[in-house]
Amino acid sequence: MLKSHSCGELNRDYVGVRVTLAGWVNRRRDHGGLIFIDLRDRGGVVQVVFNPEISESCHEIANSVRSEYVVRVSGEVGLRPPGTENPKLATGDVEVIASSVDVLNSSKTPPFYINEDVEVDENLRLKYRYLDLRRPRMKENLLLRHRVVKFIRDFLDERGFIEVETPILIKSTPEGARDYLVPSRLHPGKFYALPQSPQQLKQLLMVAGVEKYFQIARCFRDEDTRADRQPEFTQLDLEMSFIDEGDIIGLLEELFISMMEAVRPEMRMIKPFPRLSYSDAMERYGTDKPDLRFGMEIGDLSDIAAETDFSIFKSALISGGKVKGICAPGCAAYTRHQLEELGRLARDFGAGGLVTISLGAAGGSLDDLTLEMVKSVATKYLTLEQVKKMAERLGARGGDLLLIVAGEPGQVNTVLGGLRLEMGHRLKLAEPGLFAFAFIVDFPLLEWSPDAGHWETVHHPFTAPREEDMSLLDTAPERVRGRHYDMVCNGYEIAGGSLRIYNASLQRKVFRLLGYSDDEVEERFGHLLEAFDYGAPPHGGIASGIDRVVMLLSGEETIREVIAFPKNQGAVDLMVNAPSSVTEEQLAELHLRLREE
Ligand code: AMO
Repeated sequence: MLKSHSCGELNRDYVGVRVTLAGWVNRRRDHGGLIFIDLRDRGGVVQVVFNPEISESCHEIANSVRSEYVVRVSGEVGLRPPGTENPKLATGDVEVIASSVDVLNSSKTPPFYINEDVEVDENLRLKYRYLDLRRPRMKENLLLRHRVVKFIRDFLDERGFIEVETPILIKSTPEGARDYLVPSRLHPGKFYALPQSPQQLKQLLMVAGVEKYFQIARCFRDEDTRADRQPEFTQLDLEMSFIDEGDIIGLLEELFISMMEAVRPEMRMIKPFPRLSYSDAMERYGTDKPDLRFGMEIGDLSDIAAETDFSIFKSALISGGKVKGICAPGCAAYTRHQLEELGRLARDFGAGGLVTISLGAAGGSLDDLTLEMVKSVATKYLTLEQVKKMAERLGARGGDLLLIVAGEPGQVNTVLGGLRLEMGHRLKLAEPGLFAFAFIVDFPLLEWSPDAGHWETVHHPFTAPREEDMSLLDTAPERVRGRHYDMVCNGYEIAGGSLRIYNASLQRKVFRLLGYSDDEVEERFGHLLEAFDYGAPPHGGIASGIDRVVMLLSGEETIREVIAFPKNQGAVDLMVNAPSSVTEEQLAELHLRLREE
């Protein structure tokens, strides 16, 4: 090694020790005579002092170095003079008195500050990602990710799981996104697909008798990039044989609780993780990935609305719709402008409109409320009694604002779910440092797609229907529940899985409902169906998005911050400039010709 110690490890215990350090110049200061260099390596930063009275030549070299030069320094660790300690630095009590220094490499002036936590344009950071990753925050994120993945590997190893790698050049596996395709040179006109997940392969490993499989698996999905989505991302993928839903849910709960306690002991969790049915989640939070860090539950006001003379409520109810609402605490004094803005937001979420009811002055009790204190377009159609009933249903008090939406039930939930998140965010209702995990269960197996004209799966086609709903597959597929479970945290879906179909004829039946012809099924999934005929065990599993988990644990707002080399929002790798053009020769080898656009 070119160095004896890491910069960050030095403290009072090392006083008097001779050390050799190597790293980057974080900052250089010239204090008339003495030169101070903050030397940085992965372990942290330490101050190095160059005194011309100790070494004239070292002082001269120190004078010539600039930020991000790579240097090696030897010297003795000493206590800083009293009053010059830096409590913000882990090494702030000590300094290294340099007696020799080599410049191992010089550096151009970086395009952004590495030694200061300032806002930098993300595209610039991505172009120079190797510099961006030198910044302490990014280094912390890399370390956290490493610790999370190592924890997962050790945890599963201790429980008898084995990690098996599965191919990247494979055949299409439907997970609801477009495939990335790789043309074959050896087989003109044929393509591999990059796996959207190792789904079928892990099921085949169960047929192979592996029983407990996991993989830190790279997945590829050609879909629009978002804050929590990348075209290539990493899953903790796992599968087990001879289990039921409770085994997987219990395992994942134990894994996440112990991982949180190991890597983020200061954070709070709600334990045990609550279980919510899909329909409950939709009715109460308007989404299947509820943020449970705060309440503000959606309440059904349809029965109260039915007694009013308000035509918006009445007409929604007559056409089979619902009237539901949420309470925004302390927002009764919202201005007309603010209310109009909320109305626009509700329309963006899909509502026909938004009815707001402001409930008098802050702090007042509902008992003291009079109709004069209530402000709403609906007041002339509502009695005081009705307003009070609605307010009570939504847990409101004086000074609160009711947001009410009438319309088709699914749409009402979605709109109020969106407004709930927005108001929760504005009012900072989520408790900081709380991780609100939950399992969502009892999903429907299928959803009718009017555009496609056939059923589509809510999870994926390999999910088993509930035993007791099996007969409904022929009569009322929309009522069949899948043995599917998701894990959510703070409003993000961080894992999804199911018990699987392991019988070829049931699997064929589901494919048929999904609109596949028999030929398509044989061509695309023949290998799996054939395997099911050779003693496939009952099995199931789950996959958790590692990027999302690390994003939440690090407090970052996009998964790009926890991926070493992510794509930008346009799915471009700005550092290497991919995707990029290829030569005519390469295309010819792959039997491809580009179409003139
Ligand atoms: P699913 O498609 O729900 O299930 O994916 C599992 C988890 O992967 C994460 N995830 C993503 N993360 C970043 N970018 C993306 N584009 C992206 N897409 C998904 C989410 C999600 O919960 N084979 C099944 C699992 C199974 O049934 O066992 C599957 O892939 O956190």
